[in-house]
Amino acid sequence: MKILLIGSGAREHALGWKLVQSEAVTELVSLPGNPGLAQLGPSIEGVDPNDVGAVAALARVHAVDFVVVGPEAPLAAGVVDALSDVGIPAFGPTRAAARLESSKSFAKEIMSRSGVPTPAAWTFEHAADAETHIRSHPGPYVVKADGLAGGKGVLVTGDRDEAVAWANKCVGEDLGGSDPRVVIEEYAAGPELSVFAICDGENSLLLEPARDYKRIGDGDTGPNTGGMGSYSPVELPDGLLDRVQRTVIEPVLETMRNDGDPYVGVLYAGLVLTDDGPKVIEFNCRFGDPETQVVLARLESDLFDVLRAATTGAISDIELTWSTDSVVNVVLAAHGYPDSPRKGDAITGLSETDGLIFHAGTTREGKHLRTSGGRVMSVLGRGPDLKSARSAAYAAAEPISFDGRTFRTDIAASASIG
Ligand code: GLY
Repeated sequence: MKILLIGSGAREHALGWKLVQSEAVTELVSLPGNPGLAQLGPSIEGVDPNDVGAVAALARVHAVDFVVVGPEAPLAAGVVDALSDVGIPAFGPTRAAARLESSKSFAKEIMSRSGVPTPAAWTFEHAADAETHIRSHPGPYVVKADGLAGGKGVLVTGDRDEAVAWANKCVGEDLGGSDPRVVIEEYAAGPELSVFAICDGENSLLLEPARDYKRIGDGDTGPNTGGMGSYSPVELPDGLLDRVQRTVIEPVLETMRNDGDPYVGVLYAGLVLTDDGPKVIEFNCRFGDPETQVVLARLESDLFDVLRAATTGAISDIELTWSTDSVVNVVLAAHGYPDSPRKGDAITGLSETDGLIFHAGTTREGKHLRTSGGRVMSVLGRGPDLKSARSAAYAAAEPISFDGRTFRTDIAASASIG
């Protein structure tokens, strides 16, 4: 099987790393890939992953058998539909089904119709209406751009003026895109959890959950980022995952199916474990980054079999096996991340680390590796428990050096485990 993997982050490097371990996978091609993925197979440059017609044409020219889509933007643009039109199976939802991520208000409507527990929310097209709402409600305020914003669309703040200013941005050009709206959500207190359900339109299979760290600074301080670290497994009350599958994933699959938009792919439920039980604060239509890195590092089953089963309606036939190890991922980010990450810093020390490394914002210039994006790489450590996995991850990160290297020192520290 020749696989085309779309994306360029550490999540995609982890997906590629796991896919090439499958006996069925004979070749992995990535678009556009990164220097880590380039060690696993050819990378294709010069085609925009969001140009879905071009991706479908490329998949045909390269005689690809199966496509795995990493990021949300090509899914929201309809890449699975375009590939289906040319007869190439792809793991991921159609454009219509991907609205669970690409429109927060759509997701809220589906959750409401499905009886899924989620914080109350109000959608506004006009900044003045959003402001009236904010000024007449107590904080904290959760203010979200309705559409895709590359992980930069959400502000959680106790400051009313800041919330109003953010709502203005959400309905403006910065964050609003072509159909600007702002969603203001009731604040839900509790530890967060990322649950990934592999769905075949009718049934679902839950992966082991993980937890990520969204703020840049230790102790969850500073601005939100794409994610600064993660760990798995997560200690949870008995029956919690079954409850999530029964009260969140299955009702949504049923509603989507009844609406004529069956959901195939990974449904990522971002949950807050409140005193009243788990509540969904977001759906994503793709794997989480940086959680995927730790989840796949613990998965012993063949990933390709799982992804293919989702596209053939056979997910109920799959049983997963997991390593009992713990895995911790420390993200190394560039100077200035998340506001204005600097590019071009030379990266050294990769040959001296014994950690599992997944590339993200790196680029190769001749023999040299340089930073080329905000999150530069994921550094993973594993061990029989979280404490030893955490020590292994930080020890593995130690020799890797670049100017301005930024990372959190409290990933999977006992005080940060909710
Ligand atoms: N870990 C957050 C995300 O993938 O959106």
